[in-house]
Amino acid sequence: MKNSKFVVRGGNELNGEITIQASKNATLPIMSAALLADGSIKLKNCPNISDVANMVKILKSLNVKVKKIKNNYIINPQNASNSQIDCELAKSMRSSIFLLGSTLSKFKTTTISMPGGCKIGARPIDISVNSLKKLGVKVVPQGDCLFFDATKAKAKKIKLRLPSVSATENLIQFACKLKGKTVIKNCAREPEVVDLCNFLNLMGAKIFGAGTSKITIIGVDKLVGVEYQPIGDRIVAGTIMIAVAICGGEVVLKNGVPYQNKKLIKILSSMGCKINIKNDIITISRQNKLSSAKLISTGCYPSFPTDLQSQMLVLSLFVEGKTRIVETVFENRFLIVGELKKLGARIKTLNNREVEIEGMQFLKGGEVLAQDLRGGASLVLAGLMGKAATIVSNIACIDRGYDSLEKMLSRLGADIKRQ
Ligand code: EPU
Repeated sequence: MKNSKFVVRGGNELNGEITIQASKNATLPIMSAALLADGSIKLKNCPNISDVANMVKILKSLNVKVKKIKNNYIINPQNASNSQIDCELAKSMRSSIFLLGSTLSKFKTTTISMPGGCKIGARPIDISVNSLKKLGVKVVPQGDCLFFDATKAKAKKIKLRLPSVSATENLIQFACKLKGKTVIKNCAREPEVVDLCNFLNLMGAKIFGAGTSKITIIGVDKLVGVEYQPIGDRIVAGTIMIAVAICGGEVVLKNGVPYQNKKLIKILSSMGCKINIKNDIITISRQNKLSSAKLISTGCYPSFPTDLQSQMLVLSLFVEGKTRIVETVFENRFLIVGELKKLGARIKTLNNREVEIEGMQFLKGGEVLAQDLRGGASLVLAGLMGKAATIVSNIACIDRGYDSLEKMLSRLGADIKRQ
């Protein structure tokens, strides 16, 4: 439902057990890479989120056969024929950019429009475009779109200006079937990049060095059909852990990907949360008051993830002491500050990349607007501590990445309803 709202009433502890959904940011590029298969792909247990539904629409628009059975997707790209990604669909989702590498590899030419997404920053695509140019891809502007021609592309060594996730994933997808050896230096090391490489390697790709800042790809002719389960979502796991830190109680997170969330676990532990890890199971509890993390600075993996910054900002309102938060990845990721102020929060904006939060604040409830995915989820977390009801509107942007956030939280004891 487009205009749905969450009504959240604070004060309840969170207790119980939850299984964390598969990662949005792993599932989307993996769905895109499925286009490269010379067979049928089965993706198991995918998250039920609107970004995945939009990716399916885009794949279908390319004449890829996609069938959903429960939460599994069977993707058969063998008769895919259309190399032009629909402009309206592309604008509805930032992740359409992740199809650049795979469509270009599959069709040799592709046309994409500038992708849409959250309002968290300008999000240029120059790194993907310039790296492809370095591999010999011809790029021609066509109105709002860019036309790419890879008929003369050649594998070689390239170095990225920044370790961009989208650029790294595009190049990996493009180079998998490109003859010769492509080397990507200063590439992204995010766990979702590693998962994409694991998926492609299972299909028969030859990708080495995933998870380090240098990835080497030896082109192969064929990629076979496989079954794959994308990794757990470290940002959803992190959001739930932070919710427990706010509300108190004890929660067991299965499929919690603890080794991909080491920075968060270290910070929450230092603040006073008790965290136990056993394989992929995280048990987190919070009994007493927490102390401030003092300084949280986001950065590329393995630094603290920008996708958990807003959630930590909300937690910082309730702990003892001041917290300074520095956002280094996106230039506009403090959109929630204005909304939190409507609930009575006092937050000092030092500049567009830095805020300071005085702890021990109590929010009075009220109506707020979700403007981006992670900020929207963080407003829900703020509602969990509100004295009166907090109404979060525009929750369609939360549904882009959280598979029914209200069900996850209410199962653990929170008072939250979708209206
Ligand atoms: N950048 C450029 N030029 C480029 C590409 C990126 O200047 O060509 C800049 C961006 O503007 C940004 C920074 O580099 O300031 C990082 O961008 P990156 O390409 O690494 O991010 P992304 O691929 O667009 C993915 C996730 C984001 C996550 C970032 C960082 C997906 C679908 N999205 O975005 O996830 O924040 O990596 O880890 O994988 C989210 O899930 O809420 C989300 C925004």
